[in-house]
Amino acid sequence: MTHKVTLIPGDGIGPEVIQATVRILEATGVKFEWESFAAGSDAFAKYHEYIPKELTESIERTRVGLKGPVTTPIGGGFSSINVELRKRFELFANFRPIRNLPHIPTRYPDLDLVIVRENTEGLYSGIEHEVIPGVVESLKIITEKASTRISRFAFEHARKARRKKIHCIHKANIMKLSDGLFLQCSRKVSKEYPEIIYGEHIVDNTCMQLVMNPYQYDILLLENLYGDIVSDLCAGLVGGLGLVPGANFGHECAIFEAVHGSAPDIAGKNIANPTAVLRSALLMLRHLGEAEAAWKIRNAIDDVYRDRAKLTRDVGGNSGTSEFADAIIAAMETPRQPVAPMPV
Ligand code: NAI
Repeated sequence: MTHKVTLIPGDGIGPEVIQATVRILEATGVKFEWESFAAGSDAFAKYHEYIPKELTESIERTRVGLKGPVTTPIGGGFSSINVELRKRFELFANFRPIRNLPHIPTRYPDLDLVIVRENTEGLYSGIEHEVIPGVVESLKIITEKASTRISRFAFEHARKARRKKIHCIHKANIMKLSDGLFLQCSRKVSKEYPEIIYGEHIVDNTCMQLVMNPYQYDILLLENLYGDIVSDLCAGLVGGLGLVPGANFGHECAIFEAVHGSAPDIAGKNIANPTAVLRSALLMLRHLGEAEAAWKIRNAIDDVYRDRAKLTRDVGGNSGTSEFADAIIAAMETPRQPVAPMPV
């Protein structure tokens, strides 16, 4: 079977890490038909649209996307393509597993938690206007529908993945109505899952708790902006942004992308770590029912990290993006002793 997948290489380090990932995916023997499109400023130069119609139509057709990061200009310019894609396709659940890779020394070994972030509303939507010169307003819209939907996604995931605990992270002491509604919805949904321990923490305390003792958490359920910020904090706990994968799920389609951005400081130098996008692609392989190929890559990642000879600079090596990808492909081709499968 050939899987049709919409590919958005993105910009900055995007094309480098996506190219490395595509090479590895193709080396598994799984057949893909890629429909590749630019987005953001690159797309505007070509199509005079930040999200070309062809890209939208492709996602409607394939229902699966693999995406590199897209730069969003700071303090002006066009609105985030990432936010727009998530809204356009109702990709309401942002799923980010936070796990150590073996052989990357970190303060907290064997960390294993999941971030479930509401992806379509809240302050992160960037609905803003200037009221009068010198006064701006930013709207934080929280709805019962979206809050209930994301809570249910988190609890269903907990049940399926046999996870034990969910903490709803909020600031309802201050934003009593908006975060209050988010909290009420997750409390209500929690009642339907009595086997899962439900807790609530205020977001600022959560950041401190994560740095002091992240093991107390299992699944973190957050609204959009808190999820964005806490994701990067958690990436720091397991070795950095070069490692942490993500997926955006809706009822109709899914787009897989790393937590990190376009990293303009290292773009075009063949030094970015493609592991985060590669691990996002593993989530995609599972979504496509290609679990065997996912394990093959997962085991190769293990081997390459254990060996340490071909790691990128962010995790203490000297190798480039493409050399790392070559090493993963070589490791996939090397016969391996069967070992207990590890999670993606
Ligand atoms: P960033 O995630 O691009 O970079 C933060 C730091 O992490 C930089 O020092 C960078 O070099 C490093 N880093 C990130 N990914 C890495 C990788 N794969 N390998 C090695 N080092 C890596 O965050 P920043 O600088 O805040 O954002 C840059 C741009 O990316 C902005 O325009 C932002 O809007 C956009 N962005 C896009 C996202 C997306 O498309 N999903 C997500 C986050 C940010």
